[in-house]
Amino acid sequence: MAEMRADPNQKHFLRNAEFDADFSNLPADLDKEFRDFLISSITAEFSGCVLYAEMKRRAKNADMRELFGFMSRDEARHAGFINDTLKDFGIAVDLGFLTKAKKYTFFQPKFIFYATYLSEKIGYARYITIYRQLERYPERAFHPIFNWFEKWCNDEFRHARPLRC
Ligand SMILES: [Fe+2]
Ligand SMILES: [Fe+2]
Repeated sequence: MAEMRADPNQKHFLRNAEFDADFSNLPADLDKEFRDFLISSITAEFSGCVLYAEMKRRAKNADMRELFGFMSRDEARHAGFINDTLKDFGIAVDLGFLTKAKKYTFFQPKFIFYATYLSEKIGYARYITIYRQLERYPERAFHPIFNWFEKWCNDEFRHARPLRC
């Protein structure tokens, strides 16, 4: 909790001048894959943001409320950072359906915690795998957003940190 409160990535998600470059000439297949990647990523990040905000709102335990508030904060930041790149590509993703009032399905908290834990692990693996791969082949890093993934995955790691007993 102290680490979440300290917010080590608070200043991380700021764009630099590299993002101003022209990315309109990517090969067509790479361009399509990158767009799909950004859209699936922002959907996952924003889903986390909405879910955690809801869990914060509904939880009665003060620690749980605080924890899910921090996690929602991080995912909002991740989604916002991806959204800036989507805007550069002229893509507006409507994620409003995620926040619309809908019929609730009840799950026991343990299932939500476990599904959340797994999706955070997957998120961590996804970002760090891409980062490490591009570290090996820097000439393939065609967009600056990949340079943000190392510290980014630290957030996801924190979100699914195993309990030490
Ligand atoms: Fe995230
Ligand atoms: Fe996360």
